[in-house]
Amino acid sequence: MNQDYLSAIVPIAQEAGQILMRHYGRVRVEYKGGVDLVTQADRESEAFIVARLRSQFPQHDIVAEEGGGRESGAEYRWYVDPLDGTTNFAHGLPMFAVSIGLEHRGRMVAGVVHHPVMQETFTALAGQGAALNGHAIHVSEAAELRTALAATGFPTLQRQQNPNVHFYYAVTLRSHGVRRMGAAALDLCYTACGRFEVFWEFGLKPWDVAAGSLILAEAGGRATTMTGEPYHLRAPELLATNGRVHDECIALFAEIFAGHTSPLPSAAAYLRGREEAAPARP
Ligand code: IPD
Ligand code: CA
Ligand code: CA
Repeated sequence: MNQDYLSAIVPIAQEAGQILMRHYGRVRVEYKGGVDLVTQADRESEAFIVARLRSQFPQHDIVAEEGGGRESGAEYRWYVDPLDGTTNFAHGLPMFAVSIGLEHRGRMVAGVVHHPVMQETFTALAGQGAALNGHAIHVSEAAELRTALAATGFPTLQRQQNPNVHFYYAVTLRSHGVRRMGAAALDLCYTACGRFEVFWEFGLKPWDVAAGSLILAEAGGRATTMTGEPYHLRAPELLATNGRVHDECIALFAEIFAGHTSPLPSAAAYLRGREEAAPARP
């Protein structure tokens, strides 16, 4: 039965990807608030996905980012991000995806994340593993943060209050580096297939993570909050890893939350140092 869900939603996600590609490179940006962008492509992709889900699964609820869904307390609920990575998309940066996940009584059962530029389709069914373009994927075997590549994202809303820069700095100093790709669904899938070992972010929404969190779990990864509690779609933060470096990340994050890691370097001290090191002018 779950297999049927995947065969239904993979073509929907791929067709939505074609809608995005028709708009890619020629969009007019609008603002939903602050620097939260939206485009005609977000709306067209969502209208298409929601219409298809409604006609194929009329009894199911749909939660969609741009508001096109409908909720009635049904057992099955779809989470739709019609364009994850809108800011990238609007600037012509090819990191964006379509994300569709299905939840049954609070448990994710099916998910697809489609990256149209790369023609990569990540899929998962609960209990049946995860795949990339039909081939099984697994998280990486790296066992220590110092050999890990990490990813994070920064929120578009209430940026002033977000402490993520401290986490970015601390992980940068202890790993192969931290990427900020701008599409959370892809961050999760890249962790699932071993390109990243770690992904964390504050304040993600259920449609950002529904499909990707199942894909990660089915690929052998682990997700919790940043303080180690079990993850759920409405959790305040997400820490997603290959599992092997998870406890090390939780321990490091506890140090950062407690203010015990080294402070950010001073920009003023940098300039002073540069002037002191400069050779005297002739
Ligand atoms: C955003 C992206 C981004 C993340 C933001 C999300 P959107 O989704 O996933 O990587 O940092 O928090 O809101 O708005 O492009 O669908
Ligand atoms: Ca998103
Ligand atoms: Ca979106």
